[in-house]
Amino acid sequence: MTEIPTLTRRGLIVAGSATVAGASAFALAACSPSAEEPDSTASEPAGLQPGTELALLADVPVGGSLGVQVDGSAILLSQPEEGEAMAFSAICRHQGCVVAAAGASFDCPCHGSRYDAATGAVLNGPSTLPLIPIEVTVSDGRVVVA
Ligand code: FES
Repeated sequence: MTEIPTLTRRGLIVAGSATVAGASAFALAACSPSAEEPDSTASEPAGLQPGTELALLADVPVGGSLGVQVDGSAILLSQPEEGEAMAFSAICRHQGCVVAAAGASFDCPCHGSRYDAATGAVLNGPSTLPLIPIEVTVSDGRVVVA
């Protein structure tokens, strides 16, 4: 006669927990950003306090753009219309390279993504996500964090 192993109630709970833990680890692995996926967790640059000056508006060409470093953060600025300032984190939403100001667009040197300098929207992939905007105002000819 073949002996059938019996499971105690505790054994079933432990076995069930292992399965749940395994499923959770799998789910986490499936949700973790990989080097091939867009960085959808990017956020506004840390450490930029309201009132922080990013640039003089006169240094941002009308219809063009400017890249600056402020408090350790790479920032892109544009002036789509005279007197109107826009600002974005310069961190590419594809894999995190620093995007460069290139006139009416922002160009990523790593894999060729291009963004609209007026809106931060993707013009060319591989990035699928827009640049992270930074709220700014113009005060006394200075572009400052709002
Ligand atoms: Fe790949 Fe910018 S990091 S296109």
